[in-house]
Amino acid sequence: MEENTNLQVIINKFTKILDSAKTSYEKLALDNYNACILSTVLNNAPSSRAVLLKEHSLDGFVFYTNFNSRKSQEIDINNKVSLLFHFVTLKQQVRIEGTVTKLDDSVSSQYFHSRPYSSKIGAWASKQSQPMSSVLDLPAEVLKYSLKYPIDVPKPEHWGGFIISPHYFEFWKEKPFRLHQRLTYTKTPNNLWTTTLLYP
Ligand SMILES: Cc1cc2nc3c(=O)[nH]c(=O)nc-3n(C[C@H](O)[C@H](O)[C@H](O)COP(=O)(O)O)c2cc1C
Repeated sequence: MEENTNLQVIINKFTKILDSAKTSYEKLALDNYNACILSTVLNNAPSSRAVLLKEHSLDGFVFYTNFNSRKSQEIDINNKVSLLFHFVTLKQQVRIEGTVTKLDDSVSSQYFHSRPYSSKIGAWASKQSQPMSSVLDLPAEVLKYSLKYPIDVPKPEHWGGFIISPHYFEFWKEKPFRLHQRLTYTKTPNNLWTTTLLYP
């Protein structure tokens, strides 16, 4: 099967799945229904880690991080990434591939200031992905920045969002007798999306 569709249809499909994941995770008191695995590639070697999807729309898929972290350094050199969602409660998987860019600093600032005080201090205290000489270093940094910023915490320059502009999606659904369903959408040069079914 092959046919064309547009990005809004795919985004709506993803939103429906994410909403169902939220409901089902909440019922089981599970956190982080919006967790996904972000993979980056440097010198032909992949590396993966979990991040939280904070927003998605026609513009792309947004996560926040430290711009000095390993993932950010890899993205600076190669902006092709993938996101993998495994919604255990739904028996579904969503794969997204695309190119990533930094969010506008004003958008990152707005989100940063909506966060709880401890998260804002954490963004200053954690030199994400850098070696730490002792487990006591992190609480010491937290104390240092809590004293420096007892009320208003500015956004660190090294902290902000990335937005992934997708060019490929795959929706995987578990079916009985391993007859799982795989539906892919690939962006064409004229901005349409080709739908293809794959063998599981
Ligand atoms: C469920 C979960 C959600 C996470 N969300 C984020 C996130 O949104 N942003 C982030 O920078 N790290 C997040 N982390 C931590 C990352 O997985 C990772 O340890 C960190 O970003 C450093 O990765 P790097 O050294 O590859 O840059 C999360 C970890 C888990 C387990």
